Amino acid sequence: MNIHGQPHRSIEADHSRQSARIIDQTFLPHHVEWRELRTMEDAAEAIQVMRVRGAPLIGATAAFGLFFALREDASDAALQRAYEVLHATRPTAINLRWALDRVRRVVAPLEVEQRAAAAWEEALAICEQDVETNHAIGRHGLELFRAIQAKKADPAATLNVMTHCNAGWLATVDWGTAISPIYQAHDAGMKVHVWVSETRPRGQGASLTAFELKEHGVPYTLIVDNNAGHLLQRGMVDVVIVGTDRVTAHGDVANKIGTYLKALAAKAHDVPFYVATPVSTIDWTIADGIRDIPIEQRSAREVTHMPGLNEAGVREEVLITPEGTQARNDGFDVTPGGLVTALVTEHGAVAATAEALERLRVLI
Ligand code: MRU
Repeated sequence: MNIHGQPHRSIEADHSRQSARIIDQTFLPHHVEWRELRTMEDAAEAIQVMRVRGAPLIGATAAFGLFFALREDASDAALQRAYEVLHATRPTAINLRWALDRVRRVVAPLEVEQRAAAAWEEALAICEQDVETNHAIGRHGLELFRAIQAKKADPAATLNVMTHCNAGWLATVDWGTAISPIYQAHDAGMKVHVWVSETRPRGQGASLTAFELKEHGVPYTLIVDNNAGHLLQRGMVDVVIVGTDRVTAHGDVANKIGTYLKALAAKAHDVPFYVATPVSTIDWTIADGIRDIPIEQRSAREVTHMPGLNEAGVREEVLITPEGTQARNDGFDVTPGGLVTALVTEHGAVAATAEALERLRVLI
């Protein structure tokens, strides 16, 4: 997608240096800072401190991380160690394990001297596949948007879409998952407007989704997270679409904290609630999301403090609570499949049920 009119991906391979360049998302939306990853430790740190974030992008970065490790030492022991270090960076997004498993499956049977080159190729393939997958999710999502639009009292009126967190191109290699249909609708000339919820505490909606939509010229309005129910109740939202970090084999969905409340409100007001997900985000090994999906526990400081730019243009954090306030910071929540209208995958829309997902699994 474009930054200041120039096409970019959120992670770009440098073929001559065999390194990977990322946009350091901790500086967005105020500065576009590129950062070169050259070692496994660089990749692990970038995931851990959320220079890169979003389930598919975490997976792609980890794949490069495994390559960097194998370039130094391609022994079985080094492979295992790198796998463990990268896997421990963040707990909820299953794409991390998916990408690490995929690279390991390719390299493990090879001679030690062939492993690094194979890992590099596999990391590139993961990136290319992610772009294609997200484009396909966008096409299927666009069909759903068109059907919703056609049922409106005035089918020429603007389609109001609500999203949460950032499931756009900054969360993937390109296009995004939940935002891909929005881009494709806008590019196809459909009148679309996005309600962007800020996504406290880290503000991925306010800083990242707003940044992306602005760069692409898609009309949007930022709301505080607590505004969502009010807008849904008043008929100001035609469809909600979010991304996900992990879907269970029975259709439960983990996504950024606050997603569950939006799903409940959407159900109460009969507004479709879609979850855009590549198949790589489905964890076929678990069924019950509330019981089985590990929820990242993050620092209390993200809740008690707010970051931003001061008037001098310098990044600052301010305390917003009484000194010493205790805070809890669950990174994600789980929306039961029963609240999900459909999962929008690269293979089309699929019901968030065990039966429908099993049919998909057999098909792919
Ligand atoms: O903590 P983050 O910013 O990594 O959380 C990201 C999300 O919750 C996204 O919605 C999810 O990863 C889907 S990304 C296509």
